[in-house]
Amino acid sequence: MREVSGAGSNDIRMVPDRPLGRDRCWTGRAHAASVTVVIDLEAIRAAAVRIGPHLHRTPLLAARSLGERAGVTLALKAESLQKTGSFKPRGALNIVLSLPPERRHKGLVTVSAGNHAQAVAWAARIVGVPCTVVMPAGAPQSKIAAVKGYGATIVLHEDRATLFDRLREEEARTGAFFVHPFDDPVGLAGAGTTGLEILEDCPHADAVVVAIGGGGLMAGVASAVKAIRPACRVIGVELEAGPGMKPALAAGKPVPVTRPKTLADGLTPPFVGALPLEIARTCVDEIVTITEDEIVEAMRSLMLYAKLYVEGSGAAATAALLAGKVKLPAASQVVSIVSGGNVDPETALAAIAAHGAPAGAA
Ligand SMILES: Cc1ncc(COP(=O)(O)O)c(C=O)c1O
Repeated sequence: MREVSGAGSNDIRMVPDRPLGRDRCWTGRAHAASVTVVIDLEAIRAAAVRIGPHLHRTPLLAARSLGERAGVTLALKAESLQKTGSFKPRGALNIVLSLPPERRHKGLVTVSAGNHAQAVAWAARIVGVPCTVVMPAGAPQSKIAAVKGYGATIVLHEDRATLFDRLREEEARTGAFFVHPFDDPVGLAGAGTTGLEILEDCPHADAVVVAIGGGGLMAGVASAVKAIRPACRVIGVELEAGPGMKPALAAGKPVPVTRPKTLADGLTPPFVGALPLEIARTCVDEIVTITEDEIVEAMRSLMLYAKLYVEGSGAAATAALLAGKVKLPAASQVVSIVSGGNVDPETALAAIAAHGAPAGAA
């Protein structure tokens, strides 16, 4: 079993049973004076074959008017239309299907603000094992209801900072396999299939913009993109009021971060993953931050112009583009990952109504 140092008092278990290596798809490659860590492209391709039959091939939608506002040629990778309403089942299912049956027969356990919870509960149902999910008490009702709907047991926990401690208790109690939300290389390979699909559908992409919570989506996508098209920029997006990857990069390790109350609940884990951090070091070209207002404006614009119903985290990448946070040459071909659409309608509509239309916008 490999243990890596996480944040605070938590030691995050990344990969059970075996040390990381090519067979578990994390390759450490000597690169000039430093070491480049990526998820191996072959592992991402293998993940695509493994999970493909269970998932939607989500569309890459041209977004002309939003692109004009951002000063680029824009396409949206609509993971809000993925099974369970976010990109999360890509990683969760890849982990679960890669486990030998004897590792999963006592069930699965995880910790999540909602989307990963839904994904693991959904994956558990596919392989027919029980599932327990530790969720923050303030998680959106629609996400809690969806997790219940997939048949999982929910443990609500008040204090976000100690969510992972609560998870450990459940893991010890049940003997279930912990499906990590963002720090397992097999999960990252699954998330990386999003990047594969983006470059299959848009082989000349100049930039991919991706939200960062724990960093799993970014790490998988960046690994795929940099392996296939090194010139394509990968731009990460974090919350201005509570970034995680920027302080981790500065500290050289994941550090506990205080997150704001936000519509982008998927971007608020207590720390980023150790493996995503390693990958971000060399595969992410730039990290920009966005405000709550910019998130709401992107939710509104995605609904109005792209006809996409999107949650705060799902709108984050597009928010950075619309707010002019990403500087790219005019006419660059840019893909924004719309990573999820699970938000209570009352919450989304109230936020959009309170925000109103920006001056000059429709
Ligand atoms: C919709 C959505 N987008 C982005 C993220 C961030 O993903 P990651 O934690 O892999 O960085 C999440 C995480 O839950 C999410 O639910």
